[in-house]
Amino acid sequence: MTLLAETPELWDVVFKMPVERLRFIEAQAQKAGPAVLDVGCATGMTCRALREAGMAPIGVDINARFIDTARTKDPAGEYHVGDMRTFQLSRASDLLICLGTTFSYNLTNRQVAQTLRNFHDHLRPGGRLVVDVVNAIAFTGAQPFRRLSRHTFNREGEEAVATIRHGLDLRAQTMTEQVTWRRKGHAVRKDPAESLRLLFPQELAFHLEVAGFADIALLDGWGGDAQGFSGRRLIALATRPG
Ligand SMILES: C[S@@+](CC[C@H](N)C(=O)[O-])C[C@H]1O[C@@H](n2cnc3c(N)ncnc32)[C@H](O)[C@@H]1O
Repeated sequence: MTLLAETPELWDVVFKMPVERLRFIEAQAQKAGPAVLDVGCATGMTCRALREAGMAPIGVDINARFIDTARTKDPAGEYHVGDMRTFQLSRASDLLICLGTTFSYNLTNRQVAQTLRNFHDHLRPGGRLVVDVVNAIAFTGAQPFRRLSRHTFNREGEEAVATIRHGLDLRAQTMTEQVTWRRKGHAVRKDPAESLRLLFPQELAFHLEVAGFADIALLDGWGGDAQGFSGRRLIALATRPG
């Protein structure tokens, strides 16, 4: 397990919710309806913000520690431990969101297909899906790939420095990240490596079509940060046909 997965309070120091992403999701929920399902909800930050905006969100995450924290921070909310490929809820949603690289933990085509089918089954007919993945195009071409990066997080007196070793497997279309953490008062912590699937825009559209989705739209940013599909962000919107 990685340090972030083990330590929900560190996740809340490291993760900053992009305002433009929240506005985008709120606008989608206003069109689709208030029953929002956030798959990979972590500690429930997006669910809490959506509830404050008048929606009725439910959060699902594979990490029981994150779900415990989400329930503590939002006792009126509804949160479930579940795997995106297999969770089963009785309520059909108006809008299902899967954000911030959660979907990229589907490493194989079979896992991608299984997850999209499960998402399809948790939407009402006419319901909308928003998936946010890592764009494979950003890793092709001549631009140099950074092998090492360093990030400092500082919030409410907590400082954490993450040194990340990046790897790339072009055949498998995966990116690997191995994080080493340095925090005041803690021993240096070396996480196991984690892999993320890289998807090309039309590859994602194809998987969505095969899973039964229609009205597929591809975006390269939440608004204002578009990079002509050459950046790392790839967002798909789709509808479960009515
Ligand atoms: C990078 S975080 C993104 C959190 C949140 N969606 C956001 O962007 O604000 C990835 C989340 O996906 C969850 N996750 C990873 N694999 C999962 C799976 N198979 N099913 C459900 N959640 C998963 C992790 O526990 C973590 O909370």
